[in-house]
Amino acid sequence: RKGINRLSSGSKAFDELMGGGLESQSIIEFFGEFGSGKTQICFQLAVNATRPVEEGGLNGDVFIIDTENTFRPERIVQMAVALDLDPEEVLKKIHVARAFNSHHQMLLVEKANELAHEMNVKLLIVDSLTAHFRAEYVGRGSLAERQQNLNKHMHDLLRFADLHNAVIAVTNQVSSKPDAFFGDPTRPIGGHIVGHAATYRLYLRKSKGGKRIARLIDSPNLPEAEAVITVSEEGVRD
Ligand code: GTP
Ligand code: MG
Repeated sequence: RKGINRLSSGSKAFDELMGGGLESQSIIEFFGEFGSGKTQICFQLAVNATRPVEEGGLNGDVFIIDTENTFRPERIVQMAVALDLDPEEVLKKIHVARAFNSHHQMLLVEKANELAHEMNVKLLIVDSLTAHFRAEYVGRGSLAERQQNLNKHMHDLLRFADLHNAVIAVTNQVSSKPDAFFGDPTRPIGGHIVGHAATYRLYLRKSKGGKRIARLIDSPNLPEAEAVITVSEEGVRD
């Protein structure tokens, strides 16, 4: 693949785990329990993506599909200030859309495509990828339809990544109670469909003192390995 860009996470160790930052033209899935840092990492990626390439950014705009109403501009401001950036300028480049249900969430990818013609969208975030799907398709009878729609959604995202040479970051919770289909409670929601379509999967877990451990799983070209990151007031760091 030609002309791949790399987005820095704010943590050197994490960037190294990813072979030098998050690759454009790919989908990076962050999965883990509540509080494991998925949303915080997305915020940091959003701030970083607005920065120049020389500083690990993508010199671009960011589109966030927020499905759980967890976007917090004040957190973006904190992270921007910590990097000596003008928070207003950063916020101007981060476009947030609430997705009210899974259908709406899928439509918003088309919206992002339209927006990408006027703007320089280099990072697309879906936080959370699976929450609506999980809530709406309950029970065995609806599984096939859920997986079919999730599959389409993932392919729409991948197409966006290719068309705009963008990084796609998505979050996924692990089911805390055994799901009828994914009996293993540590399994991310969406099973194989999400797993196969994601280019990189990262499992996040909490560690001591605000630290998080990110484990790279099933990468096409990188070894399975871990990095320790810190989530603090300033954002994501080593
Ligand atoms: P779910 O969406 O519930 O699945 O969780 P998540 O994985 O998205 O977790 P999130 O990224 O929201 O992480 C929340 C955690 O980040 C908190 O419990 C804190 O440990 C940390 N955090 C969030 N904001 C701050 C902050 O301003 N300062 C510091 N030091 N830590 C923060
Ligand atoms: Mg979250």
